[in-house]
Amino acid sequence: MDHLYLKTSKINGTGLHTSKKIARGSRIGNIVGEVIIVKKWTPYLSKISPNWIGIGRYSWINTKNSPFKFINHSCEPNTYILGKRTFIALKPIQAGEELTMDYSFTEADKGWEISKCGCGSKQCRKKIGPITTLDLQTFKKNESLIPENFKRIFRVDYIKSTAS
Ligand SMILES: C[S@@+](CC[C@H](N)C(=O)[O-])C[C@H]1O[C@@H](n2cnc3c(N)ncnc32)[C@H](O)[C@@H]1O
Ligand SMILES: [Zn+2]
Repeated sequence: MDHLYLKTSKINGTGLHTSKKIARGSRIGNIVGEVIIVKKWTPYLSKISPNWIGIGRYSWINTKNSPFKFINHSCEPNTYILGKRTFIALKPIQAGEELTMDYSFTEADKGWEISKCGCGSKQCRKKIGPITTLDLQTFKKNESLIPENFKRIFRVDYIKSTAS
């Protein structure tokens, strides 16, 4: 992962960039960090958790000791997470480009949001929330990029919301 470096991002603050071209489908690296389990969310946790990447409804990996701590969200990302910890290139990524992921694909907490997305994509959803805030069309289009746990959470919530 020595080709990954930090630089001011056009999206937000500092972002994770690559100094070499990455081929579509190749493995970029694994997220290293402890697993955190929280059943009851509090406002305090919202403050300390921007570096957590979700792996289930109540579980996250704390990325504080990993370069992926700086990966920003994009509504048109160039990476996705395979399984729980492995970043894969979704498209060819050029040297100097920022790496991005779609945060909604790995977050289930209903209280979490980015109120004003700065990704700049034509497909920007503007307000970014958990997996359950995706519309059906966006979910279906991205199904192969969403970890199993989060697909399940989306489907259960969708069935509940359409049944009532
Ligand atoms: C894991 S950090 C990413 C690194 C961050 N840019 C930094 O400099 O520390 C996640 C935080 O970055 C910000 N962020 C990431 N992607 C964003 C986006 N597309 N639009 C607005 N803010 C974003 C949000 O504040 C989010 O809580
Ligand atoms: Zn966006």
